[in-house]
Amino acid sequence: MKAILFDEHGDLGVLRHGEIDTPEPGLGEVRVAVEACSLNYHDVFTRRGMPGIKTPLPMIPGCDAAGTIDSLGPGVTGWEQGARVLVDPVVWTAEGKIQMIGDTQWGGYAEYVVVSADQLIALPDNVSTAAASCLPVAYGTAHRMMFTRGGVKEGETVFVLGASGGVGTCCVLLAKMVGAKVVAAAGSAEKCAALEALGADLTVDYSQTDIARFTKEQTGSLFSGGGWDVVVNFTGGDTWPQTLKMVKMGGRLLTCGATAGFDPATDIRFIWTAEMDIRGSNGWKREDLDALVAMVADGRLTPVIDREMPLHEGVEAMRLLEDREFFGKIVITP
Ligand SMILES: NC(=O)c1ccc[n+]([C@@H]2O[C@H](COP(=O)([O-])OP(=O)(O)OC[C@H]3O[C@@H](n4cnc5c(N)ncnc54)[C@H](OP(=O)(O)O)[C@@H]3O)[C@@H](O)[C@H]2O)c1
Repeated sequence: MKAILFDEHGDLGVLRHGEIDTPEPGLGEVRVAVEACSLNYHDVFTRRGMPGIKTPLPMIPGCDAAGTIDSLGPGVTGWEQGARVLVDPVVWTAEGKIQMIGDTQWGGYAEYVVVSADQLIALPDNVSTAAASCLPVAYGTAHRMMFTRGGVKEGETVFVLGASGGVGTCCVLLAKMVGAKVVAAAGSAEKCAALEALGADLTVDYSQTDIARFTKEQTGSLFSGGGWDVVVNFTGGDTWPQTLKMVKMGGRLLTCGATAGFDPATDIRFIWTAEMDIRGSNGWKREDLDALVAMVADGRLTPVIDREMPLHEGVEAMRLLEDREFFGKIVITP
């Protein structure tokens, strides 16, 4: 089959479009003909190599696959060839170890992916495979972070940093869905305009504006009720010290990632002075994905797709992601 793969860890140059043996489904597994697979920043971390995670090589990236069942391995019941499915990227092995497609198992930047039947989620007819492929990693994580962990609710002010990417656009959509006031921060005027079109109440271009100062101008001093009820920061790095200064008294700082660095300086005086909660959120549960599929099916949620690209343009698609030349999600369509 054709796939985007890498044989060693490194920069974009190690990625290639090539041929690799089509995998056969084993006991309890199915082979899915991939119609759509969305990109995540996680793919960049996997390709570079992450401390503590052993990636078998060659690796086919792509965590978020949707398509149709192509063949069933022995022992699979309840599924038929041709069924339209979304793949939950994560599976727990019998030994209690977590495995993830596009990370520790071959992923979806390929014509086919083999997964456990337990990972399948049936797709309603009115949910496209492109839309479905946006859901697991980015939207699933945003759903858990905003609702289960973050408790975002109507009337609150929510500041979303990195709002233009996969997790970020979903945070904006979900916060608006429950009636929060959304302040979205992105790295260019064009992305800010796109976020306004998506429903953000206020935007700020953080390549031009100091977001801590912006917060003070908009809301007043932290000592007189200023700041946002909820601040979402999955960028980390230099942005972390800034966002500590932006949380309202008694507010929450939510995090699920560290695109720009995982060990920034923390001035802990802001934590106690604002009596803030810093809440981490990791990944999604199956309930998050079921809820998101239902939201897409009933029209409450429309994933933001920047563009769909054929498999042979997969390396260019990754370049666009890494160079931040996109808005929302990029989807590869094998
Ligand atoms: N814990 C989990 O389970 C989990 C799950 C999903 C994602 N994550 C993490 O969440 C973060 C966002 O993931 P994503 O897939 O939404 O990423 P993405 O689609 O690539 O979006 C990230 C956005 O962050 C902004 N950004 C700011 N500083 C950046 C930098 N130094 N490098 C790259 N982008 C930067 C960019 O927007 P502008 O161009 O507008 O600045 C970019 O579009 C990643 O760190 C990812 O690993 C964690």
